[in-house]
Amino acid sequence: MHAGLPGAAGRYSHPVAPRILPSLLSADFANLQTAIESVPSADGLHVDVMDNHFVPNLTLGLPVVEALRKVTARLLDVHLMIEQPDRWAPAYAEAGAESVTFHVEAAAAPVRLARELRHRGARAAMALRPATPIEPYADLLPELDMVLIMTVEPGFGGQKFLDLCLPKIARTRALLDQMGGDIWLEIDGGVSAVTIERCAEAGVDTFVAGSSVFGADDPDAVVKQLRDQAAAPPRPPA
Ligand code: DX5
Ligand code: ZN
Repeated sequence: MHAGLPGAAGRYSHPVAPRILPSLLSADFANLQTAIESVPSADGLHVDVMDNHFVPNLTLGLPVVEALRKVTARLLDVHLMIEQPDRWAPAYAEAGAESVTFHVEAAAAPVRLARELRHRGARAAMALRPATPIEPYADLLPELDMVLIMTVEPGFGGQKFLDLCLPKIARTRALLDQMGGDIWLEIDGGVSAVTIERCAEAGVDTFVAGSSVFGADDPDAVVKQLRDQAAAPPRPPA
């Protein structure tokens, strides 16, 4: 159960340690196994699948996820930025990804799809672009294991964090707390030492970070630093 009541300072109080999931999009695609091994402190790896239709970029697909599954037992958080996720997403669950995220803007039947993903043993997750509201999907939440709120327009790493997403994050946290249960709330895009605290304060528990982790000299140190910051954002002086 979430004990996510605001603390004395009005900040969201986290019942779980924040999760940090480095995005392999910012890693060296010729050396993904090395990239995975460079972040032993991470809670898993975020894998961005793009089809050049849902977003204007093309990355990797099922064969690469299958190959990653063979070289690591760690949590794979697959983020599908593709058209027709109803058709393609279940195969990623079959491939052994622990979490499979589809964009609700692209899904024809999100309830059926979420059930199919769970039936294949994956956590089912729904992503929202920055301009997509959560409220029309509130009744779907019990079908899900995670909600991903994009904090940039999906398609590329290294973009600037969109503060306009913070109210939606807070409203989603409120909906999840009303429901109880253990649905993760993830954000993706522009997460860094500068932005992570305001997101933790708004109620995020699961953070994707690409360029801020793999662009650093010591990626694992950044993972630890981000987690510490998310767990206890420093308060401004009274
Ligand atoms: C972008 C991807 C992200 C990307 C984030 O559409 O979904 O996962 O890797 O990269 P950063 O953390 O650099 O914004
Ligand atoms: Zn992503």
